Amino acid sequence: MRKQVIDFDIQVIMNTTNHELEEYLRNNTTPVDGVLEELTRHTYLTTYNPRMISGHIQGKFIEMLCHMINPNRVLEIGTFTGYSTICMAQALPDGKFIDTIEVNDELQDTIEYYLAKANVSHKVNLTIGNALEVIPNFTFTYDMIYIDGEKKEYPQYLTLCIEKLNIGGYIIADNVLWNGKVIDPLCNDEQTAAIRQFNKMVQNNNQLENVLLPIRDGMMIVRKKY
Ligand SMILES: C[S@@+](CC[C@H](N)C(=O)[O-])C[C@H]1O[C@@H](n2cnc3c(N)ncnc32)[C@H](O)[C@@H]1O
Repeated sequence: MRKQVIDFDIQVIMNTTNHELEEYLRNNTTPVDGVLEELTRHTYLTTYNPRMISGHIQGKFIEMLCHMINPNRVLEIGTFTGYSTICMAQALPDGKFIDTIEVNDELQDTIEYYLAKANVSHKVNLTIGNALEVIPNFTFTYDMIYIDGEKKEYPQYLTLCIEKLNIGGYIIADNVLWNGKVIDPLCNDEQTAAIRQFNKMVQNNNQLENVLLPIRDGMMIVRKKY
């Protein structure tokens, strides 16, 4: 019974069953350009788990945040096929950069092809490797960090990212509701536990202020105060 109540609440919050509303949101959001449309098609045709792609609304949201924050340098964990990278790069003027990290080397050709097609290659530095090993060696600090990698690693990403984030900078973390599992006491798998731990670490850190938004699968927006 309790589980049913939770499922219902989550559906209401996330509107996962309301296709009409989803369509209305899309119809009232600036349409995606041709390259992102082609990348979405390619991702669905060629990857094992295409639903990981950010997509129209979330991509536009990240792009808007990038315009608002106006970062000098962005760090992204989890490039996948490059959708969110392109969205953020399109919001960055020339001379500003994104360091994006993807562990799956099979995606490299696709990422590089679509970055070039979107005409943003000159703003993006792609590293193929494990973010947990790569980030400590990065010498830059960041005004905006987008966390969208392996959910089990979110707590470790947070620790690394706080160090690399400038004061006044932002971390945006995707999937922090994890399909509503975070509020279901019966869900205790590794990924759910890690996301809960990440949210708790953010909430309990005095250096940070944060808001958890029920956008798609939940987005945590974090600002480093000092
Ligand atoms: C949800 S997808 C990212 C979606 C992407 N941001 C987009 O907009 O389409 C997660 C990606 O993180 C990658 N990943 C998982 N663990 C990683 C790690 N430790 N370091 C770097 N990338 C990782 C996965 O291979 C996968 O491509």
